[in-house]
Amino acid sequence: MRKSLSFLQKNVAAGEKLACLTSYDASQAYWAAQAGVDVLLVGDSLGMVVQGHSTTLPVSLDEMVYHTQMVQRGNMQSDTPAYCIADLPFMSDTSVDQAMASAARLMKEGGANMVKLEGGKRAILIVDALSQMGVPVCSHLGLLPQSVEKHGYKVQGKDSHSAEQLLRDALALQKAGADMLVLECVPATLAQEITMQLSIPVIGIGSGMNTSGQVLVLHDILGTTIGKTPKFSKNFLHGQTSIQGAMRSYVDEVKQQSFPNKSHQVAD
Ligand code: KIV
Ligand code: NA
Repeated sequence: MRKSLSFLQKNVAAGEKLACLTSYDASQAYWAAQAGVDVLLVGDSLGMVVQGHSTTLPVSLDEMVYHTQMVQRGNMQSDTPAYCIADLPFMSDTSVDQAMASAARLMKEGGANMVKLEGGKRAILIVDALSQMGVPVCSHLGLLPQSVEKHGYKVQGKDSHSAEQLLRDALALQKAGADMLVLECVPATLAQEITMQLSIPVIGIGSGMNTSGQVLVLHDILGTTIGKTPKFSKNFLHGQTSIQGAMRSYVDEVKQQSFPNKSHQVAD
């Protein structure tokens, strides 16, 4: 049976770490699910690692639907299908109405189980509306790749003012109905504090070891990213002889809490 949101919540409550991995096509999704990955994220990072763009901004909703369809076809052939989250791409969620229509496509055509959107304050009304409509929502705070043209790739929450703002945003998103939260490149102690204050699962990337789980980009863990791999990631193909082995090793290390360690966080 496919992993459900309540199954994930139960495991988090029992102290298990969630192993999440991006996935963009059927075979990647199938093998990741076979390896025990809990959540497959059809990330708009596909704009960079699949399409070769330098940011995620060019990714269209049609493309997100297409990749989500492929991922879910592969995932559902697995013996242990994962929960599947799809990203709302840049400018597909500029209003409640547009976000609602975009989420409908990701779920009805793509088969996504949950949609993810970037942002704090600006996302509150959208999260509330989606949630009331019965759409599971994952919020995304910290480094926001869709805002890179305005803010650059920088660590958020480093000073006490922005740290408090991040915590306030996280609580407000949960109150609005968010079911999950991704924290990207947030200082480890702040990520831990947010995880403790929230009742929903908090998934970290570059945000230290004390979140409810981890997410990484598939190409980064296989060492096939063009150019520089972020320092918070790790090549799990080292010491393995197959992609399947690398995926299993990633899941094992997240579950055993040997990944991430201090060298994989962007700040204390
Ligand atoms: O698009 C993506 O891959 C993401 C993760 C890095 C969280 O949003
Ligand atoms: Na993304």
